[in-house]
Amino acid sequence: MTLIAETEPTVFETVESEVRSYCRAWPTVFERATGSRLFDEHGRPFLDFFAGAGSLNYGHNNPALKRPLLDYLGGDGITHGLDMSTTAKRRFLETFRSTVLEPRALPYKVMFPGPTGTNAVEAALKLARKVTGRKTVVSFTNAFHGMSLGSLALTGNAGKRAGAGVPLTHTTQMPFDHYLGGRTPDFLWFERLLEDSGSGLDHPAAVIVETVQGEGGVNVARAEWLRGLADLCRRRDMLLIVDDIQMGCGRTGDFFSFEEAGITPDVVTLSKSISGYGLPMSLCLFRDELDVWQPGEHNGTFRGNNPAFVTATATLDTYWRDGTLRDRTLRRAATVEAALRELGPDAVPRGRGLVWGLEFEDGERARAVCRRAFELGLLVETSGPRDEVVKLLPPLTVTDDELDEGLGILARAVRHTA
Ligand SMILES: Cc1ncc(COP(=O)(O)O)c(C=O)c1O
Repeated sequence: MTLIAETEPTVFETVESEVRSYCRAWPTVFERATGSRLFDEHGRPFLDFFAGAGSLNYGHNNPALKRPLLDYLGGDGITHGLDMSTTAKRRFLETFRSTVLEPRALPYKVMFPGPTGTNAVEAALKLARKVTGRKTVVSFTNAFHGMSLGSLALTGNAGKRAGAGVPLTHTTQMPFDHYLGGRTPDFLWFERLLEDSGSGLDHPAAVIVETVQGEGGVNVARAEWLRGLADLCRRRDMLLIVDDIQMGCGRTGDFFSFEEAGITPDVVTLSKSISGYGLPMSLCLFRDELDVWQPGEHNGTFRGNNPAFVTATATLDTYWRDGTLRDRTLRRAATVEAALRELGPDAVPRGRGLVWGLEFEDGERARAVCRRAFELGLLVETSGPRDEVVKLLPPLTVTDDELDEGLGILARAVRHTA
């Protein structure tokens, strides 16, 4: 009986599209989750070091966020509000201003472009092109900015680009930090193309960058490289867009991942953990003087996800009124780095804050490590152009014991697959 049940195709296989992906890496059916742990329908616990691809920085069903959400729903608070003004949106905007923008003296307007990360990137692209009247946007090797056509045109990964079905245009790729192995001065190629009227590069509207490339293999840009990029953008009259969708909201320590470099981008995209609870929400932030939108020019039905505003406000109130979370994240970076450096010469670690990558020689080994980790009760996924990097994104709220437990399981998985 059990045997038949196990070999019969599931409804996921017969009804759901072949496009499904993460469920193939983690072949079980999840039922509930709390803190850093998910439980499948048989009650088996899994330590979650993927955190909804970075959308659960504060863990699953965090009680400090769940209570206000339940109160809001219990009081018949508005759940869908288009972009009407609501009390939930007002509280979010006021709290975002007082906890995030004002303490950092950031001169940004806030736009709600639609609830996913790629929506924010599309809005940033449209705005940069509208403000400058130019078409080309520069992105970097191994970048990932989303799967809609504008964002995909900025993305490096060949497999993902192939899914577009149409030419991906009006973008140019430049080498990310370390791409040329430190053999050339930073931005040598980029500057040369910009100054040479014979280079074929149209004057770009903007440059878009991730400070740490999450999907691209946890490639960490140096602070001086980011400062050099900001300076280049200023000198050459290009807008600087930082895509902080995966690395923002405290993932690298500070609320914004670019704070360490001391730069102020012209445009910033945020999504994933901005709602704090895994509810879809997305922001495009830009300098006040760039706010040249006509009313409704970038419209969308799901821009006013009010339950997400409620949990986002609670998140800022709980975690970003002081530097406690930031300091804890930076302390834990040292713990993770030390543990990963123990894993031997064939597993090369890199990261910042609580995003770490472990690079193996090939994707086969990295996938085997993730498979073994799953069998041992830990969720981790691969990234990088050849899937050769095991990526760690534990919730920032992970306890010290959970962090040690997860790192221990990872070490066993690495040893087992050697
Ligand atoms: C840096 C970055 N930008 C954009 C996106 C796209 O976000 P979404 O999947 O919500 O569209 C992602 C998603 O992983 C991302 O990591």
